[in-house]
Amino acid sequence: MSEHFFAPCPRGLESALAAELTRLGAAQVSPVESGVGFQGDWPLCYRVNLWSRLASRVLWRIAHGPYQSEEEVYRLARAVDWPSYFDVDQTFAVSTVARRCPLKSLNFVTLRIKDAVCDRFRDTRGRRPNVDTARPAVRLAAFLDATHLTLYLDTSGEALFKRGWRKSKGEAPLKENLAAGILHLTGWQPGVPLLDPMCGSGTFLMEAALMALHIAPGLGRGFAFERLENFDAQAWARLRREAEAECRPRQQLPLWGSDSDAAAVRHARRNFAEAGLAPVVALERKDVLELEAPAAEGVLVTNPPYGERIGDLATLAEFYPRLGSVLKQRFAGWRVFIFTADTRLPGLMRLKPARRTPLYNGPLACRLYEFPMVAGSHRRQR
Ligand SMILES: C[S@@+](CC[C@H](N)C(=O)[O-])C[C@H]1O[C@@H](n2cnc3c(N)ncnc32)[C@H](O)[C@@H]1O
Repeated sequence: MSEHFFAPCPRGLESALAAELTRLGAAQVSPVESGVGFQGDWPLCYRVNLWSRLASRVLWRIAHGPYQSEEEVYRLARAVDWPSYFDVDQTFAVSTVARRCPLKSLNFVTLRIKDAVCDRFRDTRGRRPNVDTARPAVRLAAFLDATHLTLYLDTSGEALFKRGWRKSKGEAPLKENLAAGILHLTGWQPGVPLLDPMCGSGTFLMEAALMALHIAPGLGRGFAFERLENFDAQAWARLRREAEAECRPRQQLPLWGSDSDAAAVRHARRNFAEAGLAPVVALERKDVLELEAPAAEGVLVTNPPYGERIGDLATLAEFYPRLGSVLKQRFAGWRVFIFTADTRLPGLMRLKPARRTPLYNGPLACRLYEFPMVAGSHRRQR
């Protein structure tokens, strides 16, 4: 039976996610802002949770209908047979997102949906499930536009960018699905040399390693669908077995990471060790301004310090021109991608981007700049 799902993702990655979902077997794939709707059966939902590198979560559509008042929201939510979806002993939480919703208080809407779920349980089970807003077993997501309410059950639980390997964060790490999406946009393919010279906790390199070794990003974690009443344990066990069989043997890969901060390199090392992937990547403490290219050509992708988050604007204004010179002098033959919220960056580096792709890091508007470092570009740029 075909179910309706919605997978939110970082803004800017919608069409990449649509392509990924199609590859995974989804039907009726329709990208909208910040996510992609799709249809499929339950094994597909499990597969997307297990394999999607770009989705933030997978929401299962339970109810959809028009509303004009809080009372109509309550009635729509009350009409859902919640006890057929999850057990009364599971805790739950409701989160509400709205766009152009005419109702006054979203908190009140959330409260009415919670009441409706509890009342429905009381009707059929004689008691109600507890609410746990911090670590609920079951998450309900309500989406209201100007006229319609959609209710979803979250099949993922913890967001999918939490792959389960990150024990050590460091400063300002990228979300894993955003890093995977950026890698996708660079066109990098396993086997091509990849360098992140300001690697922090190593997110780009970790995502690249998982892709190269064909490791399903969700293999090391659990999912909320395992707690739903309709959970098909056999189908899930089969998908996991298949994913385990697809992992390629751990081996050294052409992946290099460095950072000038010893603690960042320690974080990255700990993360790779935790994922059982220490031997696949070369990590070292080094200032990017002293780095030599580790191969004749490849993809350099990085997310440098950003003024508002780390470091200070004046220091960065000195740093970027020097970075531009290093790239021109030592990275001829490489394709360089820089992900940043700082629009001064190409000007300060004195490099003209061949492409700039708008992306969001949470609410922060960013760009992925591509600078092809063709041999001789140094002279031309000057
Ligand atoms: C925004 S963080 C990168 C976060 C990383 N993408 C992650 O997901 O964890 C920027 C990193 O650049 C490093 N950095 C700053 N200046 C550097 C330099 N001159 N050479 C090498 N690394 C530098 C910082 O130590 C920091 O780890």
